[in-house]
Amino acid sequence: MDKFIIEGEKRLEGEVEIKGAKNSTLPILAATLLTEDEFIIENIPRVKDIFTMKRVLETLGVSISIEDDTAYIDTRGTVGYEAPYELVKQMRASYYVLGPLLSRLGRARVSLPGGCAIGSRPIDLHIKGLKALGADISIVHGYIEAYGKSLDGSNIPLEGQNGPSVGATINTMMASVRANGVTVIEGAAMEPEVVDVANFLKECGANIQGAGSSKIKIRGIGKLSGCKYRVIPDRIESGTFAIAVAITKGDVIIRRAESGHIKTVLDKLKEIGADISLGDDWIGVKMVRDIMPTNIETAPHPGFPTDMQAQFTSLLSLANGVSIVKDKIFEERFMHVPELVRMGADLKREGDYVIIKGVPYLSGAEVMASDLRASAALLIAGLAAEGTTKISRIYHIDRGYEKIEDRLAVLGASIWRLKE
Ligand code: UD1
Repeated sequence: MDKFIIEGEKRLEGEVEIKGAKNSTLPILAATLLTEDEFIIENIPRVKDIFTMKRVLETLGVSISIEDDTAYIDTRGTVGYEAPYELVKQMRASYYVLGPLLSRLGRARVSLPGGCAIGSRPIDLHIKGLKALGADISIVHGYIEAYGKSLDGSNIPLEGQNGPSVGATINTMMASVRANGVTVIEGAAMEPEVVDVANFLKECGANIQGAGSSKIKIRGIGKLSGCKYRVIPDRIESGTFAIAVAITKGDVIIRRAESGHIKTVLDKLKEIGADISLGDDWIGVKMVRDIMPTNIETAPHPGFPTDMQAQFTSLLSLANGVSIVKDKIFEERFMHVPELVRMGADLKREGDYVIIKGVPYLSGAEVMASDLRASAALLIAGLAAEGTTKISRIYHIDRGYEKIEDRLAVLGASIWRLKE
């Protein structure tokens, strides 16, 4: 298993380009199953999760090749209906084939994803959405089995106890674009990735209104066609770089980014003392002051994203005062906390929040990555820490960030990958 070795305390300076959004590429690739045609999907990130989705599609019989940042997909011919445990256990988002397969074949069998490092992660809302369209769903031998020869549009209140679900909104939207009649998803997730998937489906001919609001209206059409589509920039990658710049007191232009997608994160960066400048497709981040403390509570979009909570915790561990970071979306998403403590951070977890007492410096240590965003948090801490940080299990970071070490090195970080 590879490790990252980081010699900290190097200022990040220069320019970096943001890759396409992993979390919209995954459902867009799955959505190509909705019809028999050819697709070209541009600006996809070359990260492990995308290659796992490629394997899922290939297992189903789809022809897909990825050259540079473009995927060429041919979904013509017969496709299978089963996504096996072997692949789903590697990546929960494999469940995105459920809606498209059900729509195309009237049948899907997808392994239940199970829990993960950030909590139990139920999928009841995905099942609720598909059932509301008339699908018959049962859990058999660890698999979700869905049948529904003819799906019918319906009014679906989809919001769960912890708020709207990105995954359930997208799965239900994908299943309904070819259903009979009109579907209205109430309590829909409003994340930019939902909008991106809707825009892709519209490019294929789907009739969708309201994506990006809490009410999405889908008028089913008989057939979709293939298309060429360009994925939006990854907002979480943009935010992760922005925080890395702030913690190293750097000065970087983040290019090919969409600042409107991470407004709350940029506002928080301003609050803690960063200078933020914005252009059409770039974000300038410069930090010359001491880091000021702040409080953060994650919330569904347009609130502060749960996917940025761990990285911001690293930043605030060096703030000039006390901060509180609360995550009610994934209450167990604090695996980075004990690792940051090993680096000298003064953090105390109390249920769904962490009290952060800022310390003057972090010290490099051997730490272990536990999930995608927690590993980004350790990386950020390592960039600022005195001495050497060794991060093991970095396959977690490779799931979502493309060649992060090379791109940080270009900005002046001293980081390299130890192959083991
Ligand atoms: C997606 C993102 C993930 C991000 C999350 C929240 C992908 C591949 N992953 O995950 O990076 O952290 O959105 O922005 O896009 N819930 C239920 N029942 C369900 C589904 C979800 O109760 O059937 C709950 C979850 O436990 C959580 C909340 O709803 O508390 C939001 O989760 P959801 O938006 O579904 O997250 P994902 O789509 O899995």
